[in-house]
Amino acid sequence: MPDDRDKVVTKLPQQLCRELKIRAVTADKSIQDAVTQGIQAWREAGKPLPLIDTAKSGSFSTYVPSALYKAFREDCSTLKINFNQGLAQAIQLWLDANPLPHRSRPSTGARRVAFGNQKGGVGKTAMSAGVGQALAEMGYRVCLVDFDPQGHLTKQFGHDHLPIKGDSLVKNMCGERQADLRELLIEIPGESFDDRLHLLPACTDGFLLDAKLVSSREIRVKETALEKALGSIEREFDFVVVDCPPSLGYAMDNAIYYVRTREGEPEGNSGIVIPVQAEDSSADAYTLLREQIDSLCDDLDINVHNLGFVVNLYDARKGYVVTSSLDAWKSLGKPGVIAVVNDLKEQREAVRMKTPLLVHAPDSDQADVMRDIARRVAK
Ligand SMILES: Nc1ncnc2c1ncn2[C@@H]1O[C@H](COP(=O)(O)OP(=O)(O)OP(=O)(O)O)[C@@H](O)[C@H]1O
Ligand SMILES: [Mg+2]
Repeated sequence: MPDDRDKVVTKLPQQLCRELKIRAVTADKSIQDAVTQGIQAWREAGKPLPLIDTAKSGSFSTYVPSALYKAFREDCSTLKINFNQGLAQAIQLWLDANPLPHRSRPSTGARRVAFGNQKGGVGKTAMSAGVGQALAEMGYRVCLVDFDPQGHLTKQFGHDHLPIKGDSLVKNMCGERQADLRELLIEIPGESFDDRLHLLPACTDGFLLDAKLVSSREIRVKETALEKALGSIEREFDFVVVDCPPSLGYAMDNAIYYVRTREGEPEGNSGIVIPVQAEDSSADAYTLLREQIDSLCDDLDINVHNLGFVVNLYDARKGYVVTSSLDAWKSLGKPGVIAVVNDLKEQREAVRMKTPLLVHAPDSDQADVMRDIARRVAK
């Protein structure tokens, strides 16, 4: 905290607090700066503002410049406005001035983000789901692609695998298409997502994908099939988020190829996020993944941007191996570690309840870290 700031502790209606978090992430601002701007606007308004119902409030704290804080308190007392009410009005003013943007379709096409690591259980699915939800909160249209035949992402949202005899992403990839893939999309409900979050569910035919691709006679189809299959879906979305399987086979090659930097696309617009754990076996797994990405880039003359590592399930109490491993991830240089996610109960609860994390626990630290990763990815 900078020296010239005072801690503000208040009670805020939960909905206002949640909106503040979402809009601050969307505007790429810190909460402190958003509240500071709100207080400045409140002081400049010079007229009574609509009263805000603060009945169902929870505690909230932030830091604002000391001089501004003092002047604001004095204003509240002169105008005989309860301080909590004044601050709620100030935050509402900032929200009014910073609405969710209406997003026009990106001229470079949908941004494509894969969460990949062949190591199992590191949080690929949890991150794909959480970051996808956070992007939808920010006003982006998001398609979550369950590209893992295990179907964990699909199940997390309370859905079943697609029937094996029907249409699927894999059938589309292998030229056995029966209908437009868009017909398979399922909307994921959530007040803060509106109608912006969709899931392309998994089908168990995914277990056959590598075998089917290897026998394909079409040149280059082994790596490009996912891109071809998702073409029609891409047109409808700002972000396509791919939850990769824990393997290094052709499925992964397809995902890597899919998130490459396309011609004319700005560097870092699309790419791969690599969830890892702070332990030695995660480092070995990364070496293999890196080799796969590098050799694909060499073979196909493409560029795949690493959007960053997320060190997941972090628990410093586990001692030196864990803390030194985190240091090792951090020392890898740009883009480096974009988030450290603790082992938190809300993630497991959300999976158990088959409810999106940001619906189940929108005010949790776990939800906030997903918003933070989404902000980094969307930059
Ligand atoms: N930060 C976290 N805190 C608590 N539990 C977590 C966290 N991240 C993931 N989990 C839980 O750990 C388990 C493994 O996570 P997840 O399924 O996301 O990993 P994965 O890399 O997708 O696994 P797989 O390789 O099998 O696809 C899940 O039960 C998930 O809910
Ligand atoms: Mg998974």
